[in-house]
Amino acid sequence: MSPEVRAIPPRAGITSLISGNWKMNGNHFEAISLVQELSAAIRSAGVPKRAMSLHPPFTSIRTVQTALESDHVPIALGAQNCHDQPKGAYTGEVSADMLAKLNVSYVIVGHSERRRYFFESDEFVRAKFDAVLRAQMTPILCVGETKQERDEGLADARVIEQVRAVMAGRDAAAVLSCVIAYEPLWAIGTGENASPSDAQAMCGLIKDELGELCGAERADALVQYGGSVSVDNAAGFLHEADVDGLLVGGGSLDAGSFMAIARAGEARRAN
Ligand code: PGA
Repeated sequence: MSPEVRAIPPRAGITSLISGNWKMNGNHFEAISLVQELSAAIRSAGVPKRAMSLHPPFTSIRTVQTALESDHVPIALGAQNCHDQPKGAYTGEVSADMLAKLNVSYVIVGHSERRRYFFESDEFVRAKFDAVLRAQMTPILCVGETKQERDEGLADARVIEQVRAVMAGRDAAAVLSCVIAYEPLWAIGTGENASPSDAQAMCGLIKDELGELCGAERADALVQYGGSVSVDNAAGFLHEADVDGLLVGGGSLDAGSFMAIARAGEARRAN
């Protein structure tokens, strides 16, 4: 069990969040252009009803921070990862405190690409989740099953196992202070998205589990769907009762597409 986290930051009342995970794409010049295009889109069409966050590579975080703040763009700054230790001899790593100093609000932890390519364990993901909370930021915890697990009927068990590994021993305040992203691995970057009803079933199951584990109400949780989200399918996911937002990879690299995703079905569901 990880050490008790004392001052848990609330998710600031956000109940719907559209996050753009840029992954390892774009240098800081390209990052500025993308933020400027998003800013122009918001100036001309108005502020989207759902909250939005951008998760650039580390090399662009300071640049994106400056661009967002100087232009008063109503989009939160995020990061894709952090280390669990506050400082020290961890060559190549970046601490949660360093990100907090750049006014980062959201940090993705446990993305399947980190788990798969960098062998991140549930224990390490839990330690990162704690580090993000300690630095007064909001973790976005990614969970999801492989194609094989889904085909073998093990999807629910795998996702619940990942949720328990990080959320066991926490209370409803912790649920209010985090975001969970359901991202089936077979849907990430493949163009093969889950169906809205599959996403709804899993996001609902995650909320049931958070109720049992943490005593959280359904309304306390913010659960995103991620995996090949596009302009064409975003509204279908967002119309589902338990899909509170989206974690968007490829579809967030173009300003027009990301704004259209953020506004998808806006009339029906908003913050
Ligand atoms: P994708 O990525 O939208 O490109 O499938 C989603 C993610 O990995 O967060």
